Amino acid sequence: MNKIVFIGYMGSGKTTIAQLLSQKLNLPFEDLDQIIENEEKSSIKSIFETKGEVYFRKLEHSTLKNFIESNEKFILSLGGGTPCYANNINLLKEKGCVIIYLNASLDELYNRLALISNKIQRPLIADLNTNEIKDFIAKQLFERNYFYNQANMIIKVDNKSIVEIVDEIENLLI
Ligand code: S3P
Repeated sequence: MNKIVFIGYMGSGKTTIAQLLSQKLNLPFEDLDQIIENEEKSSIKSIFETKGEVYFRKLEHSTLKNFIESNEKFILSLGGGTPCYANNINLLKEKGCVIIYLNASLDELYNRLALISNKIQRPLIADLNTNEIKDFIAKQLFERNYFYNQANMIIKVDNKSIVEIVDEIENLLI
């Protein structure tokens, strides 16, 4: 199990949990959005604003493909939309990644993403008001669940601490 990939909706805790698991398993951690930002020398928010979502999705696909093809061992956290575009979910499967879906409920995601600090740097929801956010998340989850549910492991995260979630994943990986 040298290639572990975290998927899940924005705010589900992918980066935090992947980072802690990487320390425990002693595997290098990377975050796809961070790689994109470093390579583009620009924030995700500014890429969306200046070049648009389609440009971002193409970049997301090529960055993911490059990363997976040039690394043997990793724990990688993806953006919330990554597995849902450009056949990325099948790329992950073909390359033998263990895909872990952090499954948070609509209410939990709403509570986390409605916080201004979690909202502002996320271009898809930054301009939505509190009412609009819930509808938006519900609609996207409905569309994205098809992809998320193709993961090898589905971990429910509501009402669990980060340590509990990481322990649960570690036990399932043994
Ligand atoms: C996106 C999620 C973001 C980032 C971009 C698009 C999405 O990542 O990739 O804003 O489509 O859900 P996080 O899930 O890390 O917030």
